[in-house]
Amino acid sequence: MLKIGLTGGIGCGKSTVSSLFAQLGVTIIDADDISHGLVSLGQPVLQQITQMFGSEMQSANGELNRSALKAYIFSNHDAKKKLEALLHPLIFQEISNRLNSLTVNYCIVSIPLLFETHAEYLVDRILVVNCDEQTQIERVQQRDNLTLNSIQAIMATQVCATFRTTHAHDILDNSKNNTTLAEQVKKLHDFYTSLSLS
Ligand SMILES: Nc1ncnc2c1ncn2[C@@H]1O[C@H](COP(=O)(O)OP(=O)(O)OP(=O)(O)O)[C@@H](O)[C@H]1O
Ligand SMILES: [Mg+2]
Repeated sequence: MLKIGLTGGIGCGKSTVSSLFAQLGVTIIDADDISHGLVSLGQPVLQQITQMFGSEMQSANGELNRSALKAYIFSNHDAKKKLEALLHPLIFQEISNRLNSLTVNYCIVSIPLLFETHAEYLVDRILVVNCDEQTQIERVQQRDNLTLNSIQAIMATQVCATFRTTHAHDILDNSKNNTTLAEQVKKLHDFYTSLSLS
């Protein structure tokens, strides 16, 4: 089975690209979804997070208080490292488990921090979705209502666009509209299908 690792900077369009591949019938494994599942209500990891960082990391209904955790790790580098050390191996293990259970020709594994977490070993090819920085910032501002400063701070924790493109096997340009993106995705889908059968 051909494993395509999908990555890209914040707001460049990974989730949008995943949906387009899914619409073509492609199986998607999404690291963000796995991560959300790990910290969902009643999961042991949620207990570990509150043990490490305090009960204020849980909302009154017992769910993860995402904004409290985000704010805490944003201002505390050691806490960020501790959280990553807890979550990343579990996420990668779950990705491997899901990959092992698949019986398709090819699949997409969406890993936003693929390069930053050195997860290249999980996949056969790397697909990077890019868009120009101004568009990227505008889309994140619109979606998340974040300040320019906070968006730039997040971008500073990620590898730069040049690094991504020089380490990609395939690149999608998402600077234009959704139709243009969908056309590129269809071409890549045909390419990956033929590659997986060869
Ligand atoms: N071609 C496009 N035209 C207009 N809006 C777009 C386009 N592609 C994506 N968007 C919008 O930009 C925002 C970011 O896209 P998306 O959520 O797919 O990015 P992402 O890479 O998954 O982000 P994150 O890193 O936060 O997970 C979303 O609101 C999405 O609807
Ligand atoms: Mg996303």
